[in-house]
Amino acid sequence: MEDIFILQSLLIINSILVVDLNLMVLLVVLRMNFFYLDVSKPFKTTDSDPIPWIDLTFTGGPLKTDATACIGGKNNDIIFIFGGISKFDDLNAYQSFVNQFDTNKQQWINITSVGNVPTNRFDISCANFDNGLIAIFSGNGLNITNDLWIFNTLTLTWNLNNAINAPLPMSGYCAVTLSDGNILYIGESSARKSAVYMSMNYSTLGPPPPSRQLFSAVLSFI
Ligand SMILES: *[C@@H]1O[C@H](CO)[C@@H](O)[C@H](O)[C@H]1NC(C)=O
Ligand SMILES: *[C@@H]1O[C@H](CO)[C@@H](O)[C@H](O)[C@H]1NC(C)=O
Ligand SMILES: *[C@@H]1O[C@H](CO)[C@@H](O)[C@H](O)[C@H]1NC(C)=O
Repeated sequence: MEDIFILQSLLIINSILVVDLNLMVLLVVLRMNFFYLDVSKPFKTTDSDPIPWIDLTFTGGPLKTDATACIGGKNNDIIFIFGGISKFDDLNAYQSFVNQFDTNKQQWINITSVGNVPTNRFDISCANFDNGLIAIFSGNGLNITNDLWIFNTLTLTWNLNNAINAPLPMSGYCAVTLSDGNILYIGESSARKSAVYMSMNYSTLGPPPPSRQLFSAVLSFI
């Protein structure tokens, strides 16, 4: 429950990005600030006790908002940040579509992939799945369709997936990888539906939550 409390309190802040590493570390990128929180060590989560953030701003890093972050690499110790906006008045100004942060070397790299690559987009939510792959669906930006892209974090290459029955273009949604390998896409900005399931034919039980956008969700086994 403590972890969930921490996530909820973080989400109050605007333009924030939270990554849950397998290493039990939370990372946050907010404008030019970059912090991490080691949740493998106990700490108090009451209002009067400061959360023990560790400042990594000195490592540099991209200036972005409305981006998304997932982990990857051979040991799942690399953070990949996709898309986002670097300048609110110019959607073509962005600092590399993919930025990589190596948590061991504490080093940033702008990743440039060649060939068929996604156009820049924001208000997306990435989803990790098997073998270091990350899925990115649709998003907001110029000429964005309901395209499903797969980024291979081992080879740093992109593949456009032939997603059958893909939902309509959406942004502001949240992607969650379920334990059966399917990706759940919740919410979206067009408010067409409150939940869209992809690659699955499940139907939800009970009344769905009201529609929403630009939020975050984690899979919990409590
Ligand atoms: C990444 O690209 C941006 C924009 O061109 C640049 O400002 C930044 O220094 C680059 N970062 C690295 C680590 O190369
Ligand atoms: C979007 O489409 C227009 C019209 O085809 C084109 O001129 C423009 O370059 C495209 N923009 C991007 C970012 O692909
Ligand atoms: C999902 O259900 C729809 C409607 O029942 C059906 O047409 C479709 O073939 C099903 N898709 C899969 C992948 O089973």
